[in-house]
Amino acid sequence: MKYAVLSDIHSNYEALDVVLKKVDEIGVDGYAFCGDLIGYGPDPEECCQRMMKLKNFVGVMGNHDMSLFREDFFNWFSDYAKESMLYTAKQLSKKSQDFIKSFGREYHGKDFCMVHGSFLDPFRDYLLSAEQFVLNLDKWKGQLCFVGHSHVPFIMSYKSNHMPQIDLFLGSDVTIKMLPGIRYMINPGSIGQPRDTNAKASFGILNTKEQTFRLIRLPYDIEAVQSKIESRGLPTILSTRLKQGK
Ligand SMILES: [Fe+2]
Repeated sequence: MKYAVLSDIHSNYEALDVVLKKVDEIGVDGYAFCGDLIGYGPDPEECCQRMMKLKNFVGVMGNHDMSLFREDFFNWFSDYAKESMLYTAKQLSKKSQDFIKSFGREYHGKDFCMVHGSFLDPFRDYLLSAEQFVLNLDKWKGQLCFVGHSHVPFIMSYKSNHMPQIDLFLGSDVTIKMLPGIRYMINPGSIGQPRDTNAKASFGILNTKEQTFRLIRLPYDIEAVQSKIESRGLPTILSTRLKQGK
């Protein structure tokens, strides 16, 4: 089985379009989504409509997705995130809201597990350290778990009685082989708002037969998204940070 592993789209349709076209070119059997379909970007409805059409899709909810339905999550946001969520709520159809509502809090499947932040707190915890990785290990079974939320593509690996290892994905097309006896937590990075100082859209391809994960970065029309953000009156920081990749 081949899966496209997508995360943190954040209403960025131009980036999503480029990624899904590449996924089509590669050819996959299913789609895994690690959360945050909406928030920040200008095209929440368009992104939902596109994602709804994907076959064999499984998704978990991110904190931005959750804030549509829970005031406590909304209140946790910065002012510019709140502003973008108020805009988002006005744009979304009932069908799109129901689609987002259908995402689980966690996913535990045969080929992989998935959570947005971490199993300790799926919506607030930014999983970035070896200590957090180890604390999460008994919360999921199997070899592989995908996370999102930090918008930084990385791979954490753990072999019994060894120190956990953390590696960042550097480069535009990197394939790693997953080895037996090692457990992995992988963040495929963010499609719509990367924060590792690389502005290119980030996503991955899991190949369960070959036991590989391929991380791909793709350029997209950032200026087109920036002019939409500006013309729709969304906060300027949401536009400038796209080009900075942070
Ligand atoms: Fe996010």
